[in-house]
Amino acid sequence: MKVAIVAAQSENQVIGRGLEIPWKVKGEQALFKQITLHGTLIMGRKTYQSIGRPLPGRTTIVVSRDPDLAITGCETSTSLALAIASAIALAKPIFIAGGGELYRQALVIADDIHLTTIHTKVEGDILFPDVPDHFKLVEEKAFTSNINYTYRHFERT
Ligand SMILES: NC(=O)c1ccc[n+]([C@@H]2O[C@H](COP(=O)([O-])OP(=O)(O)OC[C@H]3O[C@@H](n4cnc5c(N)ncnc54)[C@H](OP(=O)(O)O)[C@@H]3O)[C@@H](O)[C@H]2O)c1
Repeated sequence: MKVAIVAAQSENQVIGRGLEIPWKVKGEQALFKQITLHGTLIMGRKTYQSIGRPLPGRTTIVVSRDPDLAITGCETSTSLALAIASAIALAKPIFIAGGGELYRQALVIADDIHLTTIHTKVEGDILFPDVPDHFKLVEEKAFTSNINYTYRHFERT
């Protein structure tokens, strides 16, 4: 089963500041929903903390090193590998939904990257890694909004 990364970054590759995403862009969350709906989201504990609830229409697996972590409405896992194994058992498309720590680890095994670039430069301490050269661009779509953004889909070659 394929594993896809879904992320939104600024032009300077920022994805977060502390626990927050440092922009509000109309339509960008709808795009995230469209890509991930009916799938399984795997996210780091800090990203879950920032969202604060399971997202509707998707199964959420929260990764934490705390074996006692329990979250109503979500599954939990003590490693990314165990989370992916649980997601495979659910037999729905698998999306790594952040944050920075999870993206760095998942890039090694991901088959697809759905990366939206918000056309602004912002300050932030959490960055998206460079897309490695062995990923090729297979789709690109530009959107006009309060801040324009471009969606790109990369596939592992
Ligand atoms: N722009 C976007 O597309 C986007 C998407 C998602 C998130 N974000 C942003 O990203 C930021 C959060 O990213 P982050 O890098 O700080 O944190 P994160 O990746 O969301 O979560 C990190 C936590 O996940 C757990 N974890 C990570 N690797 C693990 C492993 N191999 N095994 C077990 N547990 C593991 C640990 O939880 P414990 O400490 O509980 O052990 C760790 O502290 C926020 O600002 C958020 O808003 C942006």
